[in-house]
Amino acid sequence: MRWRCWRKRHRFPAPDRLDAMFERIREDINAVRERDPAATSAASVLLNYPGLHAIWAHRVTHWLWGRGRRGLARYISQAARGRTGVEIHPGAMIGKRFFIDHGMGVVIGETTIIGDDVTLYQGVTLGGTGKETGKRHPTLHDWVVVGVGASVLGNIIVGESSKVGGGAVVVNDVPPNCTVVGIPGRIVVRSGERVRTIDLRHGDLPDPVVEMFQGLERRIDRLDQQVGDCCDKASAQEACREEAPAAQAGRDKAPAQED
Ligand SMILES: CC(C)(COP(=O)(O)OP(=O)(O)OC[C@H]1O[C@@H](n2cnc3c(N)ncnc32)[C@H](O)[C@@H]1OP(=O)(O)O)[C@@H](O)C(=O)NCCC(=O)NCCS
Repeated sequence: MRWRCWRKRHRFPAPDRLDAMFERIREDINAVRERDPAATSAASVLLNYPGLHAIWAHRVTHWLWGRGRRGLARYISQAARGRTGVEIHPGAMIGKRFFIDHGMGVVIGETTIIGDDVTLYQGVTLGGTGKETGKRHPTLHDWVVVGVGASVLGNIIVGESSKVGGGAVVVNDVPPNCTVVGIPGRIVVRSGERVRTIDLRHGDLPDPVVEMFQGLERRIDRLDQQVGDCCDKASAQEACREEAPAAQAGRDKAPAQED
């Protein structure tokens, strides 16, 4: 009787809730074993995966956060960060079978929303740009994978089954089934098809001033050529004009001599 009162007062989880909790723990362990070839046994996953410990700590802190125990939630979250190297704000909403491989250096902001079966590698930041308020962190849909050291910044959406390459910085929405790489993140694969990228070799961009001078030089050469031709024609005509009276005189003289 006393136990029941205590349980009621402290909202201790009912047996069906406990079942659900163990079911989720089982799912989490299986998710690690499916996605990491190095996970050899459930015991090894249980003991050696800080990412998993961080997710479990987040479940507790999120529960406290939702019940207004925000100070305690932040405190436990920071303690878990010290232990696992993963900082997940208690306000973040995270789906099922979430997997953080290696853990260290992952930061997940307060208004982040993460779907089911999402995978993050070490050093990933799901953060704000520093300019927004309210919902200022990204939303990752189901089956998204974010590679090592990548940053997904701002209130953007990464669509279902998309991949963010290691080291990328993504600041715009990503449609479903795409691969994004580079800084800023650009789509290189869309639904399995390579995307043709624009040539951005800035060192080879044309210089408009040089091009203008080259055009002028070509025009001057052409005019030079035309002037030269005209001069040649004029001197030829001049020569003709000089030769013509002499030839006429020669023709006039010739019949006289014949007479
Ligand atoms: C992006 C990634 C998921 C590959 O996705 P994919 O859809 O198979 O794409 P592809 O391998 O066909 O690569 C497409 C193009 O992007 C380039 N690319 C791939 N990954 C890249 C990256 N991280 N940064 C920059 N460019 C990258 C490729 O060179 C290729 O370029 P090309 O078309 O000029 O040849 C993968 O490269 C990656 O970064 N995975 C992260 C894995 C990780 O973090 N592991 C940590 C383990 S500890």
